[in-house]
Amino acid sequence: MSTATTTSTPTLTLRPDNLKRIDLSNFEARPGNDFSSAFTAFDEPLEGDQADYLPQRFAELKQELVQNPEKVVESWKRLKLVLGDKIKLIEQEGSNIIPEISFNEIQKLDPAKRQNILEKGCVIIRNVFPKEKALEFKKDAQEYIKLNPQTKGYPASDPIVYELYWSKSQVNARSDPKMMETMKFINNLWHTNDPNVEVSLNHNLSYADRFRIRNPGDDSFTLGPHADGGCIERWEDEEYRKCYKDVFNGDWENYDSYDVTHRTKANMNIYPVANACSVFRSFQGWLSMSSVGPSEGTILLAPFIKEITSYFLLKPFFDEFDELDLQSSKFPGSKLGKNQEFNEKSHPDLNLSKLMTSIPKVQPGDAVFWHCDLIHAVDPVHKGELDSSVMYIPAVPLCDLNTKYLKLQREALLKGLTGPDFPGFPTSEAETNHQNRADSKFVYQVGGLQALQELGLEPIKYDENDSQGVKAVIDNFNKELFYKV
Ligand SMILES: *[C@@H]1O[C@H](CO)[C@@H](O)[C@H](O)[C@H]1NC(C)=O
Ligand SMILES: *[C@@H]1O[C@H](CO)[C@@H](O)[C@H](O)[C@H]1NC(C)=O
Repeated sequence: MSTATTTSTPTLTLRPDNLKRIDLSNFEARPGNDFSSAFTAFDEPLEGDQADYLPQRFAELKQELVQNPEKVVESWKRLKLVLGDKIKLIEQEGSNIIPEISFNEIQKLDPAKRQNILEKGCVIIRNVFPKEKALEFKKDAQEYIKLNPQTKGYPASDPIVYELYWSKSQVNARSDPKMMETMKFINNLWHTNDPNVEVSLNHNLSYADRFRIRNPGDDSFTLGPHADGGCIERWEDEEYRKCYKDVFNGDWENYDSYDVTHRTKANMNIYPVANACSVFRSFQGWLSMSSVGPSEGTILLAPFIKEITSYFLLKPFFDEFDELDLQSSKFPGSKLGKNQEFNEKSHPDLNLSKLMTSIPKVQPGDAVFWHCDLIHAVDPVHKGELDSSVMYIPAVPLCDLNTKYLKLQREALLKGLTGPDFPGFPTSEAETNHQNRADSKFVYQVGGLQALQELGLEPIKYDENDSQGVKAVIDNFNKELFYKV
């Protein structure tokens, strides 16, 4: 079915003159140099907990957010009890607590399995690609590096994360009809009850990120427990905080982690962070290109999305004795212009050593996805015997924020620049002189018309039955990116 697109429409004339291009010459470059800039773990540590105190205005922010202190205190007590139970459950189950399904199931997923994914906020999808295909992606990526020895990465001396976005192997993995279908499935774990909300969960965009090839023994690629999607922004931005209003109102049980209504206009970057994702990414994810088990340089996740998110959102309002603290400007683990971080001291009730759960062993071709608020970490040391290699591929639905990004990213694709969220855009040499880079013809070859649309290279048509909100985002997509539809 999906591959039919490629075969039944063999000659699409790509129309480069229809693209509304952007002049990047005055574009302000992203801060930071490499992978490390987003994390405080790479900075000099501060004494005690003074790192947690933000400027005084953030004390006022707390008072503004907590309108009904008594209700919030009660809800905090309930939450701590539930959290303790969840952590015990995680301790018992270990990696088995992470939901797993197979690619073949996604078209018609059993409702109980779907519910389990929603509850945990993460999922392993087995066999998105056959093993051989995923290994071929890795081999092709390595050949691309060999062919282009100027390729940069982090750490510079012996890279693990390569500053590559447009190898044919990456573009193929992202644009393959099976991956598009996976994205659509993942985006549709979200919902909205309002037909005017400007988002289309059925239209997935392609977000160019990098890949990692981590060798056994490596201990330089350490990422402690953190959450993406901004930091203090969750409390400070007026639109972003609406996503969590039930939590701030002392009613966390009713908080819906999958309501997309206020997500697409949230500002996750009041204080821009190098490497931070500025699009609305419903789930972050990666595709495995190797066989990796727990402690072999893989990812650890904090399941139970609703409880964990509620906990970290409420934590700044309580001191270490669980007394309400609306006076201090303390926001544990939050710093302006950094990722939201978690440690035993900042968030003791998370019992991080028990909470953080390694995903079960994955094979090449399996993918893992985690909710954009979910706490995650990477094994500090890779104790396995084989490489731990993944391609980062998130799920990104169509909305105006993401269209705006796509317009920049399209320039990156056409010129071989880094992804616009990444260091060096648009000035560094990146892949501008790389041989055998993917171009729009290649995109069409591997994914057909839909893959071109996902990268902003062809307009999208809507259905008459689509909601007002869906029609509006598609109209905007076409208007922003093209002269003619
Ligand atoms: C996203 O994936 C679905 C399912 O394969 C596909 O129908 C759609 O065209 C894809 N891309 C866009 C931009 O909609
Ligand atoms: C989690 O940590 C808290 C505080 O350190 C402790 O009181 C509690 O017993 C721990 N819970 C579990 C399930 O380990």
